[in-house]
Amino acid sequence: MLAEPFNWHPGMWNMLIVAMCLALLGCLQAQELQGHVSIILLGATGDLAKKYLWQGLFQLYLDEAGRGHSFSFHGAALTAPKQGQELMAKALESLSCPKDMAPSHCAEHKDQFLQLSQYRQLKTAEDYQALNKDIKAQLQHAGLREAGRIFYFSVPPFAYEDIARNINSSCRPGPGAWLRVVLEKPFGHDHFSAQQLATELGTFFQEEEMYRVDHYLGKQAVAQILPFRDQNRKALDGLWNRHHVERVEIIMKETVDAEGRTSFYEEYGVIRDVLQNHLTEVLTLVAMELPHNVSSAEAVLRHKLQVFQVLRGLQRGSAIVGQYQSYSEQVRRELQKPDSFHSLTPTFAAVLVHIDNLRWEGVPFILMSGKALDERVGYARILFKNQACCVQSEKHWAAAQSQCLPRQLVFHIGHGDLGSPAVLVSRNLFRPSLPSSWKEMEGPPGLRLFGSPLSDYYAYSPVQERDAHSVLLSHIFHGRKDFFITTENLLASWDFWTPLLESLAHKAPRLYPGGAENGRLLDFEFSSGRLFFSQQQPEQLVPGPGPAPMPSDFQVLRAKYRESPLVSAWSEELISKLANDIEATAVRAVRRFGQFHLALSGGSSPVALFQQLATAHYGFPWAHTHLWLVDERCVPLSDPESNFQGLQAHLLQHVRIPYYNIHPMPVHLQQRLCAEEDQGAQIYAREISALVANSSFDLVLLGMGADGHTASLFPQSPTGLDGEQLVVLTTSPSQPHRRMSLSLPLINRAKKVAVLVMGRMKREITTLVSRVGHEPKKWPISGVLPHSGQLVWYMDYDAFLG
Ligand code: BG6
Repeated sequence: MLAEPFNWHPGMWNMLIVAMCLALLGCLQAQELQGHVSIILLGATGDLAKKYLWQGLFQLYLDEAGRGHSFSFHGAALTAPKQGQELMAKALESLSCPKDMAPSHCAEHKDQFLQLSQYRQLKTAEDYQALNKDIKAQLQHAGLREAGRIFYFSVPPFAYEDIARNINSSCRPGPGAWLRVVLEKPFGHDHFSAQQLATELGTFFQEEEMYRVDHYLGKQAVAQILPFRDQNRKALDGLWNRHHVERVEIIMKETVDAEGRTSFYEEYGVIRDVLQNHLTEVLTLVAMELPHNVSSAEAVLRHKLQVFQVLRGLQRGSAIVGQYQSYSEQVRRELQKPDSFHSLTPTFAAVLVHIDNLRWEGVPFILMSGKALDERVGYARILFKNQACCVQSEKHWAAAQSQCLPRQLVFHIGHGDLGSPAVLVSRNLFRPSLPSSWKEMEGPPGLRLFGSPLSDYYAYSPVQERDAHSVLLSHIFHGRKDFFITTENLLASWDFWTPLLESLAHKAPRLYPGGAENGRLLDFEFSSGRLFFSQQQPEQLVPGPGPAPMPSDFQVLRAKYRESPLVSAWSEELISKLANDIEATAVRAVRRFGQFHLALSGGSSPVALFQQLATAHYGFPWAHTHLWLVDERCVPLSDPESNFQGLQAHLLQHVRIPYYNIHPMPVHLQQRLCAEEDQGAQIYAREISALVANSSFDLVLLGMGADGHTASLFPQSPTGLDGEQLVVLTTSPSQPHRRMSLSLPLINRAKKVAVLVMGRMKREITTLVSRVGHEPKKWPISGVLPHSGQLVWYMDYDAFLG
């Protein structure tokens, strides 16, 4: 049916004209109100700019120009003006409009955008001053108020400092206008370098001015995690915890390899390139406690940060690494390395992460990424436990609804068989609610995902797919800091990953052929806090000419050290041997006396031991074990420096030990720390005498400091080396200076003393102490010799053989 011809009359014309004038006026006023934004894209002719950033800026312009802001875009690079202008023009050629925009409109908008985009060379301090002058002149000329300036650093990090200094000294906007600088990774290489870079940037910019990009936070499915959790609180509240979640997989598989990028990749590898940032960010969004208001940037950032505080430290055994076979050859070619060069950089890694809080305790979080794999796909998959037993036979189950079918929730980040971002919820879980920007989707018939047909899921995809950088540019424009990486977040993440990276630095990755040929070679399993490849490494894949020795190539070495038995092995094996020995001692003591009294040292060496005991010793008689401290720092027990805190974090909270069997040292009495008058040392001594027969511990675990100290008994300080006192207050040369310690005479009453020494840093002292006699004043460790008990040294090869 044809529409009725519209009957215009003069009154209507007048109304339309008035409306248009009002709209125009409104627009002008809004522009006056909202002000002008200058966006300076540094590295305007580079790859990232060409691929994503110009398109993202164009989208920003389309979205925002009509809402009252005016814009200018300054593409900048080191290239001279004429050539730079040409390169930038090329980068701008391929701008595209949203699918639903009419071609004529598109052309018009593109034209306007191009007119607002100018190239300029930014090389010297004068260039930056000129930029500032030009922006000001432009504002004055057009009578515009300045709203703010965005500087997007699409340049390598070595260029940051110079640019930052220039912006800070001559390109800050005037009062009342904001400055936002946008930074792309890498943000350092480990905790130390990240800290350095952050400090350097901090001298030029305020924290609120910096927007560190992790483009995964702009991926639509990732950005949907918190809103989804929020909108489906009712259904998820009871499910989002260790009682219901079997495991969480956070995966980014790629088919491409690192060819052409090896100079970057060789420095970073997959853990730094992908796991430390993208996958960790996704992990925090899944695991964090949900704030009441998920749109509060401050609350989101605070809750994300809290996740890092409860991540269990990673061990070498928490990860497996691989490298595609042609990688070393590519590095040799691209970086002109000799034929004998073999890289140890991992191009594949899987890491098992545990979160030590009530919600997630015991739930494995698996982070995995790799190059040259069989498919390109990214997702976060939450697999729920199946605790239902279905009595009726399968043929009577309601299609897709049975509680006995797999139950999972997948934030499908992209690619894969589905080919787009999506949120999938098993139909037997609940019908989810999503915002109107997401629609129910249909996939190709017969498609199976994560073991179930697509029809078993409620499946949603975005109404309009948007590139991550364009999403993030919009968040930068709107000042949404929760989509970016704060300095604290960045450092917390490096803090978590750096020890693993260090421990893997010399580990030979498993070689894999790449693509579909990988077969099952990279499949892995996990148990007791460790990951393993499911298959043995086939011989022919070990890099020639001579393979690096692996820990398993060595037997545990048994010898003597200072006339006492010595057990030596690679660190992992050593820890597992020591843990076994402790358990055996505990079982024997409980069988004979009904109790086991164990005194433990603090510091970093025993952490791995505590974790081993916590995760792999189910037969340990914890219910009959009393735990004592060998020494303590004079800080509150809740202080991270406290030895008790280390014991609590890595052991106590994971085992079932009666509270009354735990005996922290009383360093904190009467609201003060280690005051002589409070007699904390005497109180502890009395407690020992009261509970431990003959004050003779069943086992004392000691360490050895690089200066020869043990417990908190230090060289050149006589306290606690002899005499009657069982427990003493001592002074350490390093902070915190004040300590409480078991005395040497008490230690030597033990039935068994184990001394654990690990790491290259201990090599010198190990050699020295092997030669000295009984000189506890110079080397307190040399005074350890139980009167009637046994002394055993446990040293890893790094400390013993060097
Ligand atoms: C980058 C990494 O951050 O992310 C690349 O440096 C990786 O190595 C890329 O290929 C993957 O991003 P996307 O968006 O393709 O999943």
